[in-house]
Amino acid sequence: MLLSYYCYLLCFTTLCLAEDPYVYFDWTISYITASPLGIKQQVIGINGQFPGPILNVTTNWNVVVNVKNDLDEPMLLTWNGIQQRKDTWQDGVSGTNCPIPASWNWTYEFQVKDQIGSFFYFPSLRFQRAAGGYGGITINNRNVIPLPFATPDGDITLFISDWFIKSHKELRKEIETGVGLGAPDGILINGLGPYHYDNAVVSGGISYQTVNVESGKTYRLRVHNVGVSTSLNFRIQSHNLLLVETEGSYTVQQNYTSLDIHVGQSYSFLVTMDQNGSSDYYIVASPRFVNSSDSSKSVGVSVLHYSNSQGPASGPLPDPPMESDTFFSMSQARSIRWNVSAGAARPNPQGSFKYGEITVTDVFVLHNRPAELIEGKWRTTLSGISYLAPSTPLKLAEQFNIPSVFKLDFPNKMMNRPAKVDTSVINGTYKAFVEIIFQNNDTTVQSYHLDGYAFFVVGMDYGLWTENSRSTYNKWDGVARCTTQVFPGAWTAILVFLDNPGIWNLRAQNLDSWYLGQETYINVVNPENSELPVPANTIFCGALSPLQKDQARRVNFSCAPSLMKTMKLIFIGFVVSLLGNFLR
Ligand SMILES: *[C@@H]1O[C@H](CO)[C@@H](O)[C@H](O)[C@H]1NC(C)=O
Ligand SMILES: *[C@@H]1O[C@H](CO)[C@@H](O)[C@H](O)[C@H]1NC(C)=O
Ligand SMILES: *[C@@H]1O[C@H](CO)[C@@H](O)[C@H](O)[C@H]1NC(C)=O
Ligand SMILES: *[C@@H]1O[C@H](CO)[C@@H](O)[C@H](O)[C@H]1NC(C)=O
Ligand SMILES: *[C@@H]1O[C@H](CO)[C@@H](O)[C@H](O)[C@H]1NC(C)=O
Ligand SMILES: *[C@@H]1O[C@H](CO)[C@@H](O)[C@H](O)[C@H]1NC(C)=O
Ligand SMILES: *[C@@H]1O[C@H](CO)[C@@H](O)[C@H](O)[C@H]1NC(C)=O
Ligand SMILES: *[C@@H]1O[C@H](CO)[C@@H](O)[C@H](O)[C@H]1NC(C)=O
Ligand SMILES: *[C@@H]1O[C@H](CO)[C@@H](O)[C@H](O)[C@H]1NC(C)=O
Repeated sequence: MLLSYYCYLLCFTTLCLAEDPYVYFDWTISYITASPLGIKQQVIGINGQFPGPILNVTTNWNVVVNVKNDLDEPMLLTWNGIQQRKDTWQDGVSGTNCPIPASWNWTYEFQVKDQIGSFFYFPSLRFQRAAGGYGGITINNRNVIPLPFATPDGDITLFISDWFIKSHKELRKEIETGVGLGAPDGILINGLGPYHYDNAVVSGGISYQTVNVESGKTYRLRVHNVGVSTSLNFRIQSHNLLLVETEGSYTVQQNYTSLDIHVGQSYSFLVTMDQNGSSDYYIVASPRFVNSSDSSKSVGVSVLHYSNSQGPASGPLPDPPMESDTFFSMSQARSIRWNVSAGAARPNPQGSFKYGEITVTDVFVLHNRPAELIEGKWRTTLSGISYLAPSTPLKLAEQFNIPSVFKLDFPNKMMNRPAKVDTSVINGTYKAFVEIIFQNNDTTVQSYHLDGYAFFVVGMDYGLWTENSRSTYNKWDGVARCTTQVFPGAWTAILVFLDNPGIWNLRAQNLDSWYLGQETYINVVNPENSELPVPANTIFCGALSPLQKDQARRVNFSCAPSLMKTMKLIFIGFVVSLLGNFLR
């Protein structure tokens, strides 16, 4: 850290154009015990912390994270919203990387190129996010590029999430047997339970988050919904939320008294401490669109504490939106727009990429359905296909020419055929301008995320999407982001420029939908093959497991190291030639 900081100073104070700085992190992922709702549970911590540390970096920095897996099962971390130009190898999802086995370590290395804003990371396999393991990624602007608002007096990250007392292993088992998640047991803010705002509802003795502020100052709050499956309404008593950024794009600055934040979404608000500090104030995250007889019990409550506060927050919580239907939420979503004149990671205005004037070259209508039985198993589908993760990651299969691992035959629209389980991938065309319509046939709000890209959210409405729906599109200032909500019985349309080669995950962020197969990948091949090479530390699995090098297994061999090395080289040579023959 010190060394990289020194390099950073050297480069930037002497205005040299040397390589971008490197920052190094060493993370151990392990179970720790916590009692967010007053009951002891096993949660996933990073270096003993839950939530994990915030990756606080600046545009174009190189990030090196050595991840040691001390869980009892394989894991991967994925970097939600980080675009990893030409480098799917660092994406950390099942289609791009072999899982890091228990007790192994693996080092991610990627550059946060031309991005600014608020993102987060989380464990991508086996429902693990339901147990924690998440943390923030804050990418700061370089000093030469100004913010489109006055520099805030402080920067505060809040993770909001639904939470279950059951472990992620129990939850995934239930999901597999067709039992829904049901209402969450509580809502956490920064991994902590609710403040006892009403002793009849919340018992004392539960640790809660206190956010310390000073009167008159303005803070940037970065709020991430890192939960399992619940949309949350976020609000602060007596304070306006001035929305300024979402997932790497500056928005038109508007005040909200509350905002619905769906699973996997990130927002920045400026909040001015303009109250008189006569008391503390409530920060609230409450579930939206869930039917629960005692939903008042599952509200996340933290405390906003002015340094000159005269006493605790009191009285009822600030009201959620009056409308419990999704109409209010949809019109609020439509009101979020891109500030086209603001600069972003680079000095040119965001609106200089005039997306509304580009001709669409491919259209995909992705139709989801609630979980259903397919071949005797509970599965979810996109356009009638439930994704089956092969034991050899797609990206490795492509690199090493392993045949029949996946098919590039994902359909442009729902086909008139029975639902199936398959490894079917979208055949993307490099530099195509693609329109994707998500048609939500489920009864709950879903959100969808695309790795490797930001896309423009150009429209959403109720009913079935038709070609005529295009007349309602926002062709000017739809916000560019990486996760969009799709309301039940409604559609959302996005536009994306496929300029980032690689195999990129397109997934439901709601863990229950994702876990049962609601995902696919988009394969984008640059014919000039500009992608970064397979990293030297790649873990091999599936059909490629014979290639796995000496790493971590941490088996103690008794023979001399030099002999072992020679034997390994011979073995690898043998396997490679075998594979070569096999493929010929
Ligand atoms: C993040 O880094 C920036 C600049 O490198 C620094 O000014 C800021 O205080 C840091 N924020 C936090 C929350 O550590
Ligand atoms: C595992 O960690 C060690 C140091 O802690 C490092 O030298 C090694 O490269 C790491 N292995 C991988 C595959 O990243
Ligand atoms: C958009 O960004 C510009 C440039 O940074 C800023 O001056 C302006 O206030 C912003 N406009 C709105 C409506 O947020
Ligand atoms: C937002 O609300 C604050 C008061 O909380 C007010 O001072 C400010 O002018 C409002 N900004 C906009 C853009 O409406
Ligand atoms: C502070 O504001 C509250 C609510 O607006 C008001 O009831 C109270 O009298 C104010 N206190 C002072 C000292 O101004
Ligand atoms: C909640 O209950 C209402 C009325 O019973 C029903 O219309 C609605 O679909 C339910 N919502 C969910 C998310 O189950
Ligand atoms: C994928 O699309 C490219 C054109 O972009 C085409 O040349 C290729 O044949 C397609 N592959 C398959 C398997 O359909
Ligand atoms: C799902 O599709 C069926 C058949 O087309 C339709 O009857 C139903 O209304 C749809 N439900 C939703 C929530 O879109
Ligand atoms: C390997 O052997 C050393 C020394 O005997 C021992 O301390 C270590 O725990 C062993 N490692 C494993 C993974 O068994």
